[in-house]
Amino acid sequence: MPGLSAPSDYSREPPRHPSLKINSKEPFNAEPPRLALISSYVTPVDYFYKRNHGPIPIVEDIDRYFVSISGLVQNPKDIFMKDIWSLPKYTVTATLQCAGNRRTAMSKTRKVKGVGWDVAAIGNAVWGGAKLTDVLELIGVPKLTSVTPLGGKHIEFVSIDKCKEEHGGPYKASIPLSQATNPVADVLLAYEMNGEPLNRDHGYPLRVIVPGVIGARSVKWLDSINIIAEECQGFFMQKDYKMFPPSVDWENINWSTRNPQMDFPVQSAICSLEDINFVKHEKITIKGYAVSGGGRGIERVDVSIDGGKTWVEASRYQKPGIPYNAGDSCSDKWAWVFFQAEAEVPQSAEIVAKAVDIAANVQPENVEVIWNLRGILNTSWHRVHVRIGHSNM
Ligand code: MTE
Repeated sequence: MPGLSAPSDYSREPPRHPSLKINSKEPFNAEPPRLALISSYVTPVDYFYKRNHGPIPIVEDIDRYFVSISGLVQNPKDIFMKDIWSLPKYTVTATLQCAGNRRTAMSKTRKVKGVGWDVAAIGNAVWGGAKLTDVLELIGVPKLTSVTPLGGKHIEFVSIDKCKEEHGGPYKASIPLSQATNPVADVLLAYEMNGEPLNRDHGYPLRVIVPGVIGARSVKWLDSINIIAEECQGFFMQKDYKMFPPSVDWENINWSTRNPQMDFPVQSAICSLEDINFVKHEKITIKGYAVSGGGRGIERVDVSIDGGKTWVEASRYQKPGIPYNAGDSCSDKWAWVFFQAEAEVPQSAEIVAKAVDIAANVQPENVEVIWNLRGILNTSWHRVHVRIGHSNM
């Protein structure tokens, strides 16, 4: 493709922050330390988790770069960056979460396949770009369209990176056309992250952001868009990122029985404490993030210092000094909330957090009931253990 190219090896990777914990070097998959994640409501780009399936593409010439939009539409078109820049610019504060967040903990119950992640395969950014609805209007697809006159019902985003899972082909994913053409869904073709042009790791020059949906659908380094009748048949839609029941393992799996995962469920994690933490003082701060998919706000976060026997409600906030209320127009509906509670811990204890969203969805108590062979969506109560004393006791 003119302007954008995809290396087939890892010799031209971008620089990365040294404090990231590397879960896989090639392709590069890394997350920040837990504590860094809660130091800022908007996650600095350096600390934002990086989730890749191949070497990072390179922009050769931004003026020659374009996205071709075709498929079941009457007016296929090539869209250049100048076309995107000339559309109204929207900024959407949205939390991106990898479906594999907290996979390592799920694997401890029973082994799962996939890159291991602690609790930081998640980040919150201010994404800037054009609304997909506006881009689709350029090719004659009006707002609130669920099916085009030619029968298109899904919109497929195709990248240029070379992924092993696609036998060297590009990463791709789709979302329903009804979501793509709904302005309220805030789907972006983003060219900025936190006020700066996207960096290479996060999809420069252009990526999709689908708020409230697992990160896997927010395709980076966009190369083409296809309007199609059925959902995308790519590996990451059909043979990955599907949630199976605990009874399904590799010997009895039938991928076609499940839908590709879209919205993520309610999630929370304690980030002020490592597991296991030795604390000198009895008073501890329990602080972390909570988020739910589909734009559902966080109604409550409960914390416990006795393994879940008794609970207190934590305070919740997004921006300092502004009270958070799920559903308020001044709250960022696609973004996480931070929670905080202080507790006296007289002895060694199991500290637990669980969040409840505005639809009263609650995190499940145990990981066993949601175990799945790919280790996705570990949203079980988050538990950390603290011991009073010094680590050399
Ligand atoms: N897009 C492309 N082209 N290639 C990828 O490997 N990974 C997906 C998604 N988009 C991926 C991609 C996954 S699984 C996630 S969780 C997010 O990008 C991660 O985005 P980030 O690296 O900007 O945090």
